Parts: sequence; structure tokens; C-alpha cells
Amino acid sequence: MVTVSDIKVSIKNLYKIFGADPKPMVAKVEGGMSKAELLEKHGHVLGLKDVNIDIKAREIQVIMGLSGSGKSTLIRHINRLIEPTAGEIVVDGQNVLDMSEDELLEFRRFRASMVFQKFGLLPHRTVAQNAAYGLTIQGSDKNEALERSQRWIDRVGLSGFENHYPAQLSGGMQQRVGLARALATDAEILLMDEAFSALDPLIRTDMQDVLLGLQEELHKTIIFITHDLDEALRIGDNIVILRDGAVIQKGSPQDIVLNPADDYVSDFIKDINRARVLEVGSVMDTKAIKTGIKIDVETPIEEAMQLMLEKDKKPARVVKDDKVVGSVTIDAMIKAIARPKHGSGNKNYK
Ligand SMILES: Nc1ncnc2c1ncn2[C@@H]1O[C@H](COP(=O)(O)OP(=O)(O)O)[C@@H](O)[C@H]1O
Ligand SMILES: [Mg+2]
Repeated sequence: MVTVSDIKVSIKNLYKIFGADPKPMVAKVEGGMSKAELLEKHGHVLGLKDVNIDIKAREIQVIMGLSGSGKSTLIRHINRLIEPTAGEIVVDGQNVLDMSEDELLEFRRFRASMVFQKFGLLPHRTVAQNAAYGLTIQGSDKNEALERSQRWIDRVGLSGFENHYPAQLSGGMQQRVGLARALATDAEILLMDEAFSALDPLIRTDMQDVLLGLQEELHKTIIFITHDLDEALRIGDNIVILRDGAVIQKGSPQDIVLNPADDYVSDFIKDINRARVLEVGSVMDTKAIKTGIKIDVETPIEEAMQLMLEKDKKPARVVKDDKVVGSVTIDAMIKAIARPKHGSGNKNYK
């Protein structure tokens, strides 16, 4: 059961409308006016429409949607870089709209760290100085900041690169610095807006591994934005899908894959193809069970999942040469499709 204290960030009835006189537009949107109509008839842009999300503490909440669906607008409300047209953002029980300037500054420095798509590093500062930057603006003494951030440089696999400048690093390494800087602040909330989207696919997967490895230890509340389904399924404990500023679906990766809410979501899902490649043997548990349908160890996950969904969705027995060698669940297969085994997160470049 979810208790209130499990909820770290609660977004309530949030509306954002861009334009000269946005407030009166809320009623129109509430009345069912579409984004296109609002723009055409009233010259206002619908950014967010009645968004309600409870983000659980210590989990990764993914916000997914196509470009222009409102993802950045949404995440920027959490640390109030954007003022809502209507609604509330409650963090640890406190409405960020009630925060004074000072409280807000403190909130951004100590409680919610941002990791940017373009890395946001200072070009004329070294890796060490960049990583220490968040601590410096928290008011830490320079040497103390460098000392404390060293741990995070090591942790993201950049030991030995302390005195390099950002331009001397690859994109993936620059983003490791961005991550180290955010982590060094000790903030409980990480806001990541397409943080890995600028990276090449392999490097991107690497960074996902780094993040997942760190998260196993750190249990931060991470709000992670992406327009990429594979990434969303891999990273997210929970996923929210946005379209035209509205929430289309909320759920676990499993919920999304098994029950896409509409064609927009199905469209995202249809490109998953690892299920065709992976075999049941790669995801089975060697624990044998006594009941359940029998599936050959070499059956592709896609096919096995179909069989199990048609049947009773219960765990199946995995057989090899007519012998039961283990068991497999739908859950395990979905995890494998979405989230292959990940590493320790301290992969080094040397
Ligand atoms: N400052 C702004 N003024 C007008 N429209 C904006 C502004 N910021 C964002 N928008 C519009 O709001 C919608 C959501 O944008 P955004 O949150 O950036 O989407 P995403 O991050 O999902 O690509 C888009 O239609 C965008 O054009
Ligand atoms: Mg964006």
C-alpha cells in the first residue's frame, strides 16, 4: 500500500498555458478545447493540461512523450523554473509555490539537482571543479568541495580525469561529470531532462547502466525524461506518458507494455523487438515448479509471452530435451526485454 510519506513529489491539477493572458484559457481547456483549437482561436499554447502524478520516493519516475508533448515544461515546474497557470507541486508535503525566494534557492541547491541534456558544464573549469560546483554554490569551502566531490568522480568512473577540461572529454564522459556534480550535492531528488538523449546509442546504454547501478545504492527520487521507449522501459520503475500536455497513461513498464492505453502508446510499443531475439532460457529461473504450461528453453520471449498470456498468465515450466530445467514468469520476460542486466556503474575508461 502506498502511504503519503512514500510520495516524494505530488503534482496536482497542473495546467500551464503559454501566452499573453493564460488564466482565462484554463476554463476553455477544462471545457475540452484542444491544443490546436486553443492556438488557432486564442493564440495560446497548451503546455500542460490537468496533470496529476504522485512520484514515489526512492524510485525512478520516467516521463515519456514525443517532442512538444510537455515533458520539459513539466519537469521545470518541480523546481519552479516555470510558474504554473493553475495547480500545485508538493514536495515532501510542502507546496513549492509557497516557498519564498530564499527557500526556493535553498530547495534548488540542496534538495533537487538537475542534470541537463547539453551537460551544462563550465568550459573553463576542470572535471574536478565542475563536479565540485554544486557544493561550492551550496557554500562549501573550495577544498572541502573538491574533496567531497572526488568520491563521485570515482563513482562515475572518471578517476584520473580530474584535471581535464570538458572539451577534452567525449559526450558520455561529459555527462558523467554532470551526473557526479548532481550527486555530489546530496540532493534527494534528481531531475534529468533528456540527460542521455544527446549520446550515441552505445554510450547511452552505458550511462543508463551507470545510473541504474548508482540507484541500487543511493535510492534517490529520480524524475527522468525521455522520448525513447527503450530507455523508458529500462530505466523506469514507473512511467507517465504525455501527449499534447496531457497524461495519457501511467503505470509500470509492465502495465505499459501489456496494456497500452491507446494508439499513441501502441505506436511507441510496436518498435520493441528484443522479444523476438531473446530466448526463454536467458530469463528463466532455475527453480523448478510443479505446474504451469511447458515451454521449450529456446522459445523466443515474444512467442512464450503470447502462449502465457493466452493461457492463465501464471509462471511456466521451462523444458530442455523433455526435462523441466526451470521456470519463467511474464514479469521476468518483460524485465529482460526492457531492462537487461546492468553493471555496477563504476566502469572506468582506462
Ligand atoms: N516559453 C514558451 N512559450 C510558448 N510555448 C512554449 C514555451 N515553452 C514551451 N512551449 C510549448 O509547450 C509545448 C511543450 O513544450 P516542451 O515542454 O518543451 O515539450 P517537450 O519537452 O516534451 O519536447 C510545446 O508545444 C512548446 O512549443
Ligand atoms: Mg524537452
